[in-house]
Amino acid sequence: MGIEIVFEGLWLLLKLIYYQIEAIFRFFVQPARKDVKGDIVLVTGAGSGIGQGMALEFAKLGCVVVGCDISNQGLEETRELLYERTGAKFHGYSCDLSNRDEIYKMADEIKKDVGKVTILINNAGIVTGKKLLDCPDALMQKTMEVNVIGHFWTLKAFLPDMLSSNHGHIVTIASAAGFFGVPGQVDYAASKFAAVGVSDALYQELDHLGKSGVKVTCVCPYYINTGMFDGVKIKMLPILDKDETVQKIVDAVLRNKYILMMPNVFYTFAALKNIVPTKSILAMSKFTGTIATMDEFVGRKKSS
Ligand SMILES: NC(=O)c1ccc[n+]([C@@H]2O[C@H](COP(=O)([O-])OP(=O)(O)OC[C@H]3O[C@@H](n4cnc5c(N)ncnc54)[C@H](O)[C@@H]3O)[C@@H](O)[C@H]2O)c1
Repeated sequence: MGIEIVFEGLWLLLKLIYYQIEAIFRFFVQPARKDVKGDIVLVTGAGSGIGQGMALEFAKLGCVVVGCDISNQGLEETRELLYERTGAKFHGYSCDLSNRDEIYKMADEIKKDVGKVTILINNAGIVTGKKLLDCPDALMQKTMEVNVIGHFWTLKAFLPDMLSSNHGHIVTIASAAGFFGVPGQVDYAASKFAAVGVSDALYQELDHLGKSGVKVTCVCPYYINTGMFDGVKIKMLPILDKDETVQKIVDAVLRNKYILMMPNVFYTFAALKNIVPTKSILAMSKFTGTIATMDEFVGRKKSS
């Protein structure tokens, strides 16, 4: 035991050095993009925003695109968009992702109608934008159900097929709110921290199961101009552009990137967060105006 642990420790040290060098190398030379032609991609929340954008991009790459949404109108718009831009067929399914039974029913239908999903993008999300004590209980619960609990059920429905072939990709659309909480996002941040946790634990679980052929990507963007966060007050960092965000997410998936934070400065913020004093984080939040971003939040006109 004594000498073994020393050798194991040395072996670990070598690996840590190797991975660090690899990470620096990968900063300059990105891994090649994988070919996803023929893959079956399921995008949740495909009826609008970045979900719709990702559906279009994966269709351009030759994937069979399946999407689900609570909005039939949104699904119809996505179907038309894909047809106009690519000629591809869009397989749209109406589903309330806060309802486990509906998710399992939809999964059975997709497997029967289209086939085995190889890329699952858990994207659908909602935000209440209310301060903790102003937020109705039911809405807080709904936020958790759509933004993270639904991920359990889609994973349980589609991961087994990926495991049996040791091929697939799980994409979690979380948020910068999965690392940093701001006023007006207590429920939203809780759901996004949880979504980051799902992705983190799943990454290790898949490796532990010997299924490293199933890749994991966690996406953590700052505000994007999709309409979901209409009204947010920005002092410093600019709001991300929807189309550029979609391009970066698809690129990260094709390169099997484990985590994508946008903009890049959030990698530094995340690293600093657990090192500097909490009061420093608060001071920076005030300086950057982040603390007040949700003060004039309106969100989408239609309520989901
Ligand atoms: N917009 C931003 O600023 C921003 C920033 C970081 C992360 N995100 C995350 O990105 C994802 C997509 O956001 P978006 O900006 O494209 O928003 P969006 O509102 O344009 O799209 C969300 C989609 O999810 C669908 N949806 C909502 N509730 C549903 C339910 N119960 N069942 C099925 N579908 C449902 C909506 O109908 C909509 O089509 C979300 O998870 C969001 O939290 C957004």
